[in-house]
Amino acid sequence: MKCFPFPLWEKEGTSSKGEKSSCWPLFRKGSSEGEPTSGTSGTGGGSQTASTATTFNSHSQSVSYASSSSTSSSVMETYGSKQNRLRVFSLSELKVATRNFSHENSLGEGGFGCVYKGLVAHRDPYKGDIQLDVAVKQLNSRGQQGHKEWLAEVKYLERVNHPNLVKLIGYCVEDDDRGQQMLLVYEFMPKISLEVHLFRKGLPVLSWQTRLNIALGVAEGLLYLHEGLDIQIILRDLKPSNILLDKDYTPKLSDFGLARQGPDAGHSHVSTAVVGTMGYAAPEYIQTGHLTAKNDVWSFGIVLLELLTGRRALDSNLPRNEQYLMDWCKPYIGDNRKLRKIMDQRLGGQYDVETAERIASLACQCTLKIAKSRPKMRAVVEALKEIVESPHL
Ligand SMILES: Nc1ncnc2c1ncn2[C@@H]1O[C@H](COP(=O)(O)OP(=O)(O)OP(=O)(O)O)[C@@H](O)[C@H]1O
Ligand SMILES: [Mg+2]
Repeated sequence: MKCFPFPLWEKEGTSSKGEKSSCWPLFRKGSSEGEPTSGTSGTGGGSQTASTATTFNSHSQSVSYASSSSTSSSVMETYGSKQNRLRVFSLSELKVATRNFSHENSLGEGGFGCVYKGLVAHRDPYKGDIQLDVAVKQLNSRGQQGHKEWLAEVKYLERVNHPNLVKLIGYCVEDDDRGQQMLLVYEFMPKISLEVHLFRKGLPVLSWQTRLNIALGVAEGLLYLHEGLDIQIILRDLKPSNILLDKDYTPKLSDFGLARQGPDAGHSHVSTAVVGTMGYAAPEYIQTGHLTAKNDVWSFGIVLLELLTGRRALDSNLPRNEQYLMDWCKPYIGDNRKLRKIMDQRLGGQYDVETAERIASLACQCTLKIAKSRPKMRAVVEALKEIVESPHL
């Protein structure tokens, strides 16, 4: 499912008194319109306006999004010289690695561009020189928004390190006859994504235990982003296609292109364009553009419902009253006999009903209308650990 903007107008710069400074049209993920940038900081008293131009790079104050998007050298200067954790690939190296971005190597396409499987030479500190499987994401959007997402991805992924977050190995920014090429190189995830296993036909059914492990891993990844770093990172686009799966089905969060830094101390939220994927964004964020970590908590609740039911958050192929998963599910939650009716049939009844009920109830808490009433990811992780370690399983 591709991302798209919600049909709202940006309310950037809402002050604590609720004054609106200005409005801009929304952009489409991967389109040429940029997310509006405005002032540098919030007006105090609870609200904060975050602008990419000002929050973009903690390493280089001089590089703003507007200036860095236009030349490869500025990106290279920013990342090539200062981020020695990331490897700089040449375009020719990635062409060889992906067999010239061949169709057979394609892993899929999202709003950002196409993703290809590749093989690169790699020096491993323990294994020495090896051939490493990678996923190469090629930015296909020529617009500012694509550049901005590319930069956000590098900015956030280069500073994170957690077993439940995908590893960015390096990048490539180079000009060729088609213009500037911007690519990202990630560790390859052999089981691709939760989306593939949960919704596509022909693959083995994810067992109940695997689903629980995935839920816990995703929750731990989000907790790390929300509380485990010197800044808070709000992922903003949690959904099954962005939950990649390692060979043993360990989940790894990916796609930080829409991620934003959370509000600074003293601010309740960040005011931003409303972007994400329909079906996964919290209602208060859709309505106001006020972004908090509770938006990720909401999305996580939706993913829990998907793990229980095997249905998509939003499925326009279903009858009208079943299209929005959450609306369809909620009347069935809280009663074991009713819950059975919405559980994924492909599980063939191979799950513990009491555990399923607890997961369903947690999903309901994560999707409470009032954001403040939703638990923090720390509480969600604790609840899930208790459930996963329960003797019922
Ligand atoms: N590191 C990876 N290893 C294996 N497959 C990957 C990797 N990264 C992405 N993919 C796969 O490539 C496909 C495209 O991914 P991409 O993130 O560009 O789009 P998406 O998540 O499907 O949509 P959106 O742009 O809305 O996020 C997905 O099916 C995803 O599972
Ligand atoms: Mg993705």
